[in-house]
Amino acid sequence: MKRTHHCGELTVQAVGEAVRLIGWVDSVRDHGGIIFVDLRDREGLTQVVFNPEDDRDLAERASVLKPESVIGVDGQVGRRPEETVNRKLATGEIEITASALSVHNVAQTPPFPIDDAKGDKVNEDLRLTHRYLDLRRPKMQRILKIRHRAGKAARDYFDEEGFLEVETPFLFKSTPEGAREYLVPSRLNPGEFYALTQSPQQFKQMLMVAGVEKYYQLARCFRDEDLRADRQPEFTQIDLEMSFIDREDMYALIEGLIGRIWKEVLGVEVTVPFARMPYVDAMNRFGSDKPDTRFAMEMVDLGEVFAKSEFKVFSSTLKTGGAIKAINAKGLADLTQGELNHLTETAQSLGAKGLAFIKAEKGEWKSPIVKFFSDVEKEALQKKLGVEEGDIVFFAADEWDRACTVMGRVRLEAAELLKKKGRLEIDPHRYDFLWVVDFPLLVFEEEAGRYVAAHHPFTAPVPEDVGLLESDPKAVRGQHYDLVLNGVELGGGSIRVHEQALQKKLFEEVFKIPPDVAEDRFGYMLKSFGYGAPPHGGIALGFDRMVAILSGVGSIRDVIAFPKTQKGQCLMTESPGPVTEKQLRDLHIQISDTAGERG
Ligand code: AMO
Ligand code: AMP
Repeated sequence: MKRTHHCGELTVQAVGEAVRLIGWVDSVRDHGGIIFVDLRDREGLTQVVFNPEDDRDLAERASVLKPESVIGVDGQVGRRPEETVNRKLATGEIEITASALSVHNVAQTPPFPIDDAKGDKVNEDLRLTHRYLDLRRPKMQRILKIRHRAGKAARDYFDEEGFLEVETPFLFKSTPEGAREYLVPSRLNPGEFYALTQSPQQFKQMLMVAGVEKYYQLARCFRDEDLRADRQPEFTQIDLEMSFIDREDMYALIEGLIGRIWKEVLGVEVTVPFARMPYVDAMNRFGSDKPDTRFAMEMVDLGEVFAKSEFKVFSSTLKTGGAIKAINAKGLADLTQGELNHLTETAQSLGAKGLAFIKAEKGEWKSPIVKFFSDVEKEALQKKLGVEEGDIVFFAADEWDRACTVMGRVRLEAAELLKKKGRLEIDPHRYDFLWVVDFPLLVFEEEAGRYVAAHHPFTAPVPEDVGLLESDPKAVRGQHYDLVLNGVELGGGSIRVHEQALQKKLFEEVFKIPPDVAEDRFGYMLKSFGYGAPPHGGIALGFDRMVAILSGVGSIRDVIAFPKTQKGQCLMTESPGPVTEKQLRDLHIQISDTAGERG
């Protein structure tokens, strides 16, 4: 069964050689009795010819081969006649004239074609149910290789930089902050639960206290979140932590890492250092903490223009401390009523009261609100937004963060519409890396009536803001940084608190975690900080998201070998699934009557 070459390897240099190939039957064609078999393995395709004039019996056996069967072929490499050369294929100039055929396994007809163009159109559930067939497609094989190469580039880089890869536990305990966790019942400790780690955060900090200095891991993380195209319940982070560093060190380290990965996987030189943008600017200009800076359509603030406006929706918003934000979607005035309604619904789903607009069409401004504007206001709008024939301007009047977020979403959707209409083009090989910095340390959670950590509770405040923790918590900036690529949050991290007293104060006085809960959940951590914790910081990059961008695909499900569906199910193995009464008894667990009524 040993092959001499793989199916993507043979070229005219090998003409005349005797070879043996092994792989899957991609297709069988009969051209007037001569049988052509395309043989496929993970490296490519090679054409094999069975000529009945050489061996009638062999050609006969080849003619009945079923696609996806596993075969081995002995034969001789020959040059293809000029008119049959396939320039798209690495092996397109040669073919193998077969002298022997062994069939290792006969395949049934697969439920969908193992073909990139056709396979992409197949219903995703069907692909996931037969993932082992889906992964046979060249596109998926290419993605698996990109993932491997990106991981290897990261490992090589960290090794050269003096990092140690250390594995940390999956079975952890429940912590009050962060995403919803997966719980695992403990058989040996009745009634008690592990939680699967959302990230190695606390362990990597303990490794710093332990003196490891430079840690990294390609870490699996588990979060029981509502799933989307860029979220999976189990995913992988390039996770790291370092001692004796500041934010600048971290930016330089990660820029080096990204440069290495992009170079090795795509052969692309990324420009360093990456741009930086304070959170407040990102919100004001792009309405997002992960701005897509590949196109402009920036937001404009109209607070000054409408402070004394007759249009009460705007002036009253400003009086109560809110903001008015607008974007000019250039050339989108001809959007359909349906598209406009959809944009309005999107704005409303984010809490907007409406989506005011002005269309510049046939030399005039068409809008349900323009009649309320004075000439001075109209002139100011014209100046700030540069309105031209064919443009449409959208407005949001709301509390500052909501006005920003709403316009940020409208901006992205307007860009999608412009792309669809061929009026906005984004180079698929453009990579806009951006550090978003100076996040607020704390956000006020209305429901809980208290501040929670904007990132996580171990993030250190910017030193000059520590004094504001009591007097003006909202104004305290965290030493937190997010890495954004093309509008995707690729990663986030921070310089951490390493002083026992400050961490305790944050838990107890700022986050108002009851002392017994803080002691129970974080006691060991606080204690460890009393034994010489070095200053430290780290970051985690979403590896699946990174590989999706490197591969040019839109969903991280396409870059995970065995992903879950939106409902958190694995269709291939049919998990999750029920367990036996005995298993439950062993775990001291009872299922309530309402279980099974799936929400
Ligand atoms: P954070 O929670 O921001 O930080 O996660 C870091 C990065 O992981 C990716 N990510 C995900 N990818 C796929 N599916 C998910 N459900 C998912 N959730 C997050 C994102 C994100 O930017 N311990 C901290 C890091 C640190 O402070 O060092 C952490 O986990 O790309
Ligand atoms: P109304 O006077 O409520 O009919 O609103 C006039 C226009 O302004 C409609 O197109 C609404 O969708 C829009 N609108 C109302 N409230 C807001 C708001 N807070 N921000 C942006 N547009 C709004």
